[in-house]
This record gives sequence, structure tokens and C-alpha cells, in this order.
Amino acid sequence: MNSLPLLEMKQIHKSFFGVKVLDDVSLTARAGEVLELLGENGAGKSTLIKILNGDYQMDSGEISIEGERVIFREPYDAEAKGIHMIYQEQHYVPELSVAENLMLGNLPTRGGLIGRWTVDWNRMRALAAERLQVLNLKIDPDSKMKDLTVVERQIVEIVKALSAEARIIVMDEPTAALTPPEVERLFQIIEDLKQRNVAVIYISHRLDEVFRIAQRVTVLRDGRHVATRPIEELTLASVVELMVGRAVESHHSETTMPDASAPVLEVNRLTRYGVFEDVSLTVRAGEIVGIFGLMGSGQIPLTQSIFGAEPVDEGTITVNGQAAAIRSPQDAQRAGIGFVPIDRKVNGIVKGQSVRNNITLSNWRELAQAGFFRQKREKEHVQRWVEALAIRMAGGSEVPIRFLSGGNQQKAILARWLEADAKVLILNEPTWGVDVGARADIYDQLEKLAQQGLAVLVVSSDIQEILAISHRILTLYRGRLTGEFVRASATQEQLLAAAAGKTA
Ligand SMILES: Nc1ncnc2c1ncn2[C@@H]1O[C@H](COP(=O)(O)OP(=O)(O)OP(=O)(O)O)[C@@H](O)[C@H]1O
Ligand SMILES: [Mg+2]
Repeated sequence: MNSLPLLEMKQIHKSFFGVKVLDDVSLTARAGEVLELLGENGAGKSTLIKILNGDYQMDSGEISIEGERVIFREPYDAEAKGIHMIYQEQHYVPELSVAENLMLGNLPTRGGLIGRWTVDWNRMRALAAERLQVLNLKIDPDSKMKDLTVVERQIVEIVKALSAEARIIVMDEPTAALTPPEVERLFQIIEDLKQRNVAVIYISHRLDEVFRIAQRVTVLRDGRHVATRPIEELTLASVVELMVGRAVESHHSETTMPDASAPVLEVNRLTRYGVFEDVSLTVRAGEIVGIFGLMGSGQIPLTQSIFGAEPVDEGTITVNGQAAAIRSPQDAQRAGIGFVPIDRKVNGIVKGQSVRNNITLSNWRELAQAGFFRQKREKEHVQRWVEALAIRMAGGSEVPIRFLSGGNQQKAILARWLEADAKVLILNEPTWGVDVGARADIYDQLEKLAQQGLAVLVVSSDIQEILAISHRILTLYRGRLTGEFVRASATQEQLLAAAAGKTA
């Protein structure tokens, strides 16, 4: 192997509004290797790779490729050197088709003339279909990006970067939305990339993945480089300790099932033809029920329908024994159902508004009624959540939320919904992008809410998470329930089999 690293970033410094976000950070990436970049939410990972991609300019430092110094003023410069990004935030053109988004920047043309009339649309569609095939995906190249689910969009992003002739591919949390079989597929692709001598820089908060794919690990903490080690020298515990600066206890949830009280939420034979069918489930007060299904199994539409955001064809919903006629989210909220949507970063966030306003949005009316005391109450309330979920921000809770790191944005938005004061809380992917320590904080909060009598229904693609927090787990396959497990005795293998439609 070539001893000269393919990529070297040396002594990088970067501040935002006078706050040091990267302080003397260095990193190397080698051809044919996966370097895992780790750190808590807000540690500076995305900032570092955005500098590598020419999105941000560093204040000082050096980047070289094969020993030759490079200067990236914009993403185009980085791309010209074979650097490709799969971003945490999605970048796509909503009105264009999947095929067009995939081929953006290098549309196949006829005769080589540039212009819309020369684009070879048939060839483009065929190429796009072929590329989607690498991940074994059934995504129609003709559908518009805006009509895809969040997960499907994420996958299109991945496919897009894979099809470029990249020498360095950076993946910022590519698996946050993926279930185990899709993760496996992505790992195979990463293996192929390694064989083709591509350098992969990989960021993830699913720490078990580190030991599957990484050769080396670089850890950042509070904008500083903490360690770079070969994977053989690390254990899960030591990785966490490097990230957090102290040992973190893994989450131990109450294994005792809540009393067999009457169910708070009762869903009866709920059906939306072609999406989910004949789904019956109950959630009791104090109970956390997890739903696990592979991509596109109907778990997300199911929760959206329970919340009234999507229509149903048949079936009933009961809350505390009372039939609830839910035709809109307002109806659901009136019936006492709170909801954390999957696309909260698209719909759930007010980007220009402060962190404080984003947290208090759902509670605004109640706080407003407090009149004179409003400001004080609002401050206390925000402070409580900032502490409970360890939301970190450089400029305090008055900065616009878009300046927060990806994981900290997620935590702030989640705080808003946890405050909703509901009888039933439905959460989709509660810890997307959230680091190991803050995950435990969120699990603790959910458990606390359950102990106070809330009925909790959680959809997650992260099987470890489902196993860690649910008292009871339901599996969904092609829109139908295929299994019910008590957490204490469920295994990952059983869940996966049931989610793949295999009956035991
Ligand atoms: N454009 C920006 N303006 C102001 N501050 C920013 C900006 N981008 C990032 N920051 C700040 O820089 C710090 C590091 O953020 P960064 O996004 O690099 O973290 P991260 O390690 O990627 O975290 P996460 O795991 O949550 O994605 C954070 O404190 C964040 O608030
Ligand atoms: Mg990030």
C-alpha cells in the first residue's frame, strides 16, 4: 500500500461568530480504507467535512491530496479532485424526477451538443434504473423527488454519490434511516469501494457499525482531535469514552411490564388498501410499544393514519375507551394523541427561528396565556429541555436553529413534541442522528413519560433501539402485523425474520 495518505487535512481551525468549532484538527484518509469519524452531536464532524468539500472556508489549516496542497473554494473544486459527499441534510431538486436528480450535472446527451433538446431521456432513465439497481431498490426513476419518502430520498443521495467517479467518498450518517438489510447492502457497496481503492470517510452514531467497516477511527470532542486509532485497539466502551470523555452506562430500561390496565390507544382492523391492512394493536398507560418493519412495510403510513394525517379506508381508533373519529391531525390532538413525524426536519422546523421558539412552538398557546409570566416560564421551560436532552449550541437558545449541528436540531425538535401533554405519544425515529449519550437521555425521558402514565408507540429502523426501549414489539411486513414479542425474550434474529415475513 502507498505510504502517502490519499488525503491529509492538517491543523484545521474554524470559528462561527467568534466561537471555535474546530481547533487544530488533523485527519488522514488512505486509499482502500474506511476512516470512521466519531464525536458527540456538535463535536464538529460535519463542519470538518464541509470544509473538505469546499462548502465552508477554514480560518487556517491545510488540505493536501497525495501530498499536493489543494484549495477548495467551492464544492465544484472538491468534486474535480474526486471528492464526493453524502450529506446529513438532503440536497435535491424536489420538482425533478429521481432519474434527473441522479444524473444532475452529467445528463447523457445526443450528439454532444448542450441543451435540453439534446438530452437523451431514454438513456437517462435506463442509466438511473441501473444505478438504483445497485441497492436492490424498487424506486421508480420517473417519480418526482418530492413524492418520495424521506428514506427513499436518502437512498437516492447515496446512489448519486456512488455513481460518480469518486476517489474519496464522505458519508455523513448514511444509515440513520436504514434498516439492517439495507445497511448490509450499503456495507457490501462500501466493501466494493475499498476494493476499488476509494477512501471512505464515514460518520455514524450507530456505534456497532464502526467495528464492522472501519479500519481506523478518528474521534473529535468539542472541536478538538482526541485520538486516531486502528480499530484493533478499540472496544465499544473505549470508543464511547473517547467521544464523551467519560464512561457512559448503557441504557437499562424497566423490564417490568406495566399493569394490565385497560388500553389507552386501541387500533382496530385499521386498513388503507395497498399500504397497510387489518392492523389491530393496543398500547396501555405506561407502556412503550415498538413497531419494527423493513423499509416500505407501512409502519410510517400507519402512524400517519392513526394521527389523521393520511386517510384510512376501514377500521376504528379508540382512545381511553372512547371511539375517536380522526379525520385530521387536529382531531387526533383533541383526542389526546401527540405525534413526532418522520420528516420533522422538513416540516417540523422553522429554520429562521431561534432554538427557543422552535422548542416552545407546540406549547405556545399555553405559555401565551400565562401573560406577564410568559417570558420567564418560557425560559425555564426551554432550559429544562436543553438540560434534559443535552442540547448543545454555540450561541445559546436565541440562535437560529439552523446553526445547530444535525443531532442537536433533532433533539430540539423532539423536545417540542415531548412537551405536547398527550395521552398517547407516537414517535417516528426518535433518535435519528443523535449521539450515544443523548440517545440514553431520550430513552430516559420516554421512560419517565411512560411511568407518568403516557402510552408510547415508537417506530424505529434501528433494531437495537427497538430492543432497548420497547416493552412490547410488533413487526410489520407488507402492511400486515406478523409478530408480537415481549422485549425481555425477543432477539434480533426473531424480529428480522418476522419483519421479513417469515413465520417462526
Ligand atoms: N453555519 C453555522 N453557523 C454557526 N454555527 C455553526 C454552523 N455550522 C455548525 N455550527 C456549529 O458548529 C458546531 C459543530 O457543528 P457540526 O455540525 O460540525 O457538528 P457534528 O459533529 O456534525 O454534530 P452532529 O453529530 O449533531 O451532526 C456546533 O456547535 C454548531 O452549532
Ligand atoms: Mg453533523
